[in-house]
Amino acid sequence: MASIRVVQLSDLHFSTKPGGYMLRDTAETFAAVADRVRVDAPDLVVVTGDIANEGKVDEYELAGDALAALDLPVHCLPGNHDFVDPLHGVLPRPNIAVQRSLRIDGWVFLFGDSNLDGGEHDPTAGWTDHPDRVDLARGGITTQELGWLRRQLDLGDADHAMLWLHHPPGGTGMFERPGYDDQIAELVGAATPLRAIAAGHEHAGVDRASAGVPSHVCPSTGVCIDFDALLLMPPGYRRFTFHDDGRIDTEVVWLEDERWADRWKLPAWVAEYFAGQMTDDEMKARMAEASGESG
Ligand SMILES: [Fe+2]
Ligand SMILES: [Fe+2]
Repeated sequence: MASIRVVQLSDLHFSTKPGGYMLRDTAETFAAVADRVRVDAPDLVVVTGDIANEGKVDEYELAGDALAALDLPVHCLPGNHDFVDPLHGVLPRPNIAVQRSLRIDGWVFLFGDSNLDGGEHDPTAGWTDHPDRVDLARGGITTQELGWLRRQLDLGDADHAMLWLHHPPGGTGMFERPGYDDQIAELVGAATPLRAIAAGHEHAGVDRASAGVPSHVCPSTGVCIDFDALLLMPPGYRRFTFHDDGRIDTEVVWLEDERWADRWKLPAWVAEYFAGQMTDDEMKARMAEASGESG
């Protein structure tokens, strides 16, 4: 294969509750994204977490059926809204995999877990999710996971490696976690073949760099925010092309669709929250106040 074409989808937040997730019907937004992805016809689809909104079995049944209908090879990894047992138990289909790595020609794709606070690793019992994992939202990598990633990078024979995660490094405000960027810098080390990182979680479409490696953030297929302009954005996704010389092209695709054309200006306190200047409790109080005002 001369080059590998990949579509990244993130933060699907499939929900069985009326109103979906943050006032959008995420099954409807996903279906619209899926129509575009079928036209793109990539070699592979990577889903970088928050697949279910509350990590429930019936949410994974919905998500699994929707991803299966893409009729393309799909690889999934967990976000803070995902619970590992139902994700692994319910999501896989003939075209949907949850394996941790994938080799295609000279490239290796590593599907990492950045949910450091999401659970406990026990040498005999394996991984157990924390019940409040949804709220433990900041990125970080366990010692076991960091060791696994380092071994894949140091001992593998691929020419080029791509790391897919839920949490992007280089986050600020509420997306920042002390130590996470240092872990990424450790993985980047001079001799590793790591060419780029792609993640989700921020529900935004931005490009930055971490420890000298390009780091791409994928929009949500449901609700997105332009954090600079404080605007609500339409659903979106990312396209990637991986070349055999190690180059990567990527672009964000926003869904231009009249159903989600309104780019509402968000109130200033939302920016304060995302900048880490407001606690979760203060944010919830402001939300309750705002919903009271709007009736
Ligand atoms: Fe999310
Ligand atoms: Fe997330």
